[in-house]
Amino acid sequence: MNVDLYEKFWMWAAAGIVVVFIASIGFTTFGQAIQPPSHIETIDPQTVRSDEEFGQPGVTINPDGSATVVVQAFLFAFLPTEIRVPRGRPVTFRMTSPDVIHGFQIVQTNGNTMVVPGYVSQFTISFDRAGEYLVVCNEYCGLGHHNMYARLIVEDVVAAAAGGER
Ligand code: CUA
Repeated sequence: MNVDLYEKFWMWAAAGIVVVFIASIGFTTFGQAIQPPSHIETIDPQTVRSDEEFGQPGVTINPDGSATVVVQAFLFAFLPTEIRVPRGRPVTFRMTSPDVIHGFQIVQTNGNTMVVPGYVSQFTISFDRAGEYLVVCNEYCGLGHHNMYARLIVEDVVAAAAGGER
C-alpha cells in the first residue's frame, strides 16, 4: 500500500496530538492531583430535609479554626441564605439537593460545583479577601433559577475566637 508522504505526515501528527492530550490528562491527574471536585458520597434525596447533617444546614467552626459549611440547594434557594466564614482558613463546603441539579458558584473565586440530587458535593477553599461574595446557582433548574442565590460573608478572624492566634 502506498501512502503519500504528506498523508503520512498528517497521520502521525494527528496520532501525536492524541498522545499529547492523553499524557496531559495523566499528568494533571496523577502528577498534580487535579481531579473532579467531589468524592462519591451518596444520600437519598427524599431524606435530605430530615437528614441529621443536611436537615440543619449551617456553618461549623472546627477546633483547628477551619470551617465546615453544610448547604441545602433546592428550588429556588440555598440554605443558609447567608453564610459567614473566617478569612484565611480552609472552608469546606458540603452540599446536596433534594430535588433537581443545581450549581453552587462563589462568584470571582474558584469555588464552583454542580449539586446533584443523590450525591454530596464537596470542595475546600480559603478566602484571602474579607468581604461579601455572591453565590449563584449556575445550572438552569427552573422558573426561579435566576432568584437562586446566597450571600457569603468572609470575616477577619477575631483573635479571641481563634484561640488567641491570628
Ligand atoms: Cu438552582 Cu438554577
